Amino acid sequence: MLDQSNRPALPPEIGRRRTFAIISHPDAGKTTLTEKFLLYGGAIQMAGQVRAKGEARRTRSDFMKLEQDRGISVSASAMSFDFGNYRFNLVDTPGHSDFSEDTYRTLTAVDAAIMVIDGAKGVESQTRKLFEVCRLRDLPILTFCNKMDREARDTFEIIDEIQENLAIDVTPASWPIGMGREFLGCYDMLNDRLELMDRADRNKVAESIKIDGLDDPKLAEHVPADQLEKLREEVEMARALLPPFDRQSFLEGHLTPIWFGSAINSFGVKELMDGIGNYGPPPQPQNAGERQIAPEEPKVTGFVFKVQANMDPKHRDRVAFVRLASGHFTRGMKLLHVRSKKPMAISNPVLFLASDRELAEEAWAGDIIGIPNHGQLRIGDALTEGEQLRFTGIPSFAPELLQGVRAGDPMKAKHLEKALMQFAEEGAAKVFKPSVGSGFIVGVVGALQFDVLASRIEQEYSLPVRFEPSQFTSARWVTGPKAELDKFINVNKGHIAHDHDGDIVYLTRLQWDIDRVERDYPELKLSATKEMM
Ligand code: G4P
Repeated sequence: MLDQSNRPALPPEIGRRRTFAIISHPDAGKTTLTEKFLLYGGAIQMAGQVRAKGEARRTRSDFMKLEQDRGISVSASAMSFDFGNYRFNLVDTPGHSDFSEDTYRTLTAVDAAIMVIDGAKGVESQTRKLFEVCRLRDLPILTFCNKMDREARDTFEIIDEIQENLAIDVTPASWPIGMGREFLGCYDMLNDRLELMDRADRNKVAESIKIDGLDDPKLAEHVPADQLEKLREEVEMARALLPPFDRQSFLEGHLTPIWFGSAINSFGVKELMDGIGNYGPPPQPQNAGERQIAPEEPKVTGFVFKVQANMDPKHRDRVAFVRLASGHFTRGMKLLHVRSKKPMAISNPVLFLASDRELAEEAWAGDIIGIPNHGQLRIGDALTEGEQLRFTGIPSFAPELLQGVRAGDPMKAKHLEKALMQFAEEGAAKVFKPSVGSGFIVGVVGALQFDVLASRIEQEYSLPVRFEPSQFTSARWVTGPKAELDKFINVNKGHIAHDHDGDIVYLTRLQWDIDRVERDYPELKLSATKEMM
């Protein structure tokens, strides 16, 4: 997908941007790595060590977790920081362990992903799921094998596991020297350097020693003889057996370079960041139904990939996160909100500079800006300088689990409706209002989302709720010619509901029902996804 060869050179401000996400299984070290990124990005002075334990902390955005646990002010789902000549935009992937649409949509806003794995555990379930989502989008992936300061698996075994489990070629960007207590550092295979870990200071950048290949006598000054012999053997074998680094193949998503390190010891992090900067993709073209939007186009376009409500509990405002697809944005610009066809003055956009939330004076293609609003901006919405664009590829999935929901206090039904609508707009759940009877049916993709919702409704709206089994198990959006649709709705009243956009949904328990509708109403289309627009 990412053939850079015949693309025009990007304006320097755009060309230096790297917009990416980190994917990992819980506990692999995503938060620690993020913290070190910020440290090297100059955003924070010292990485804190305070942290909450257990599942509770995972239900919130990991960046919020960072903020709460460590007093670092980030309050965002996206953070920007400079590293060398590069501007990094790191987009947070939701922290909880169920796959959710949120995750999918986050990954529509990035150009690359870092996959963090635990050196002792290898590829875990959540990593695999997230990896598959990246693959759907052919995202280039950089791999960081973390916790090498602990007993880890044999290096070849880790690489084999990634290759076999994820069906992607792996090339070592660095090679670990020892592991656990014996872990000395890495041999940098891309730059022929020796990187030595400093155990005394966790926040110190590793000592880097330029080496002239593996036969350089300087190596022996730093690496004990037995470890050196093993290193030489392994690197020789790796070079013979594993593919060399090839940028094009990496950009196309066929090959992942792997770095070994220890995030908590700040080791390997800088090399990984150099990797993203030097080899990672600059902002990529985005698909809109009508055409492809190139980042270097002078006019500003962007799409909303996430809406977050209640970031500040005192205000009921929402922030819509917009990925700029093209152009140079400046504060105060008037943009067309394509769905409502209304102009919007973007007067107080927020750029999430890691040091703090800051008003964005300007932003470029590839950047993520937050736009505070009262609910006008929804996921999938396009903002342009006038063109009627519709970005594609931001789907809404039919939920796989449906439950009824009730407020603990029946007098609070209206409050509940408001809360549910807000979560539907955020994309945190599907909310269906059946046309017969009262109450709502909530649909999610992963079971844990019900718990997350219940706890958020309780916290943010002081409203205890109960989820209960629903008679339905599937939902399909229904579209077609009006006459046929009306006839269908009339006959199937008990199965019809509306989603929060007012679109018609058919609820059922049986695949057989869906087949029957498709047979009896050939002009209707039943669909398991809906493009968010
Ligand atoms: P997550 O966001 O992916 O869930 O992982 P997080 O960074 O929170 O790290 C999970 C645990 O792994 C933390 O330990 C963290 O300190 C530890 N960790 C991260 N990187 C490394 C590393 O390079 N080496 C080692 N040995 N451990 C690492 P915890 O017990 O949950 O917290 P704490 O008590 O250590 O702070």
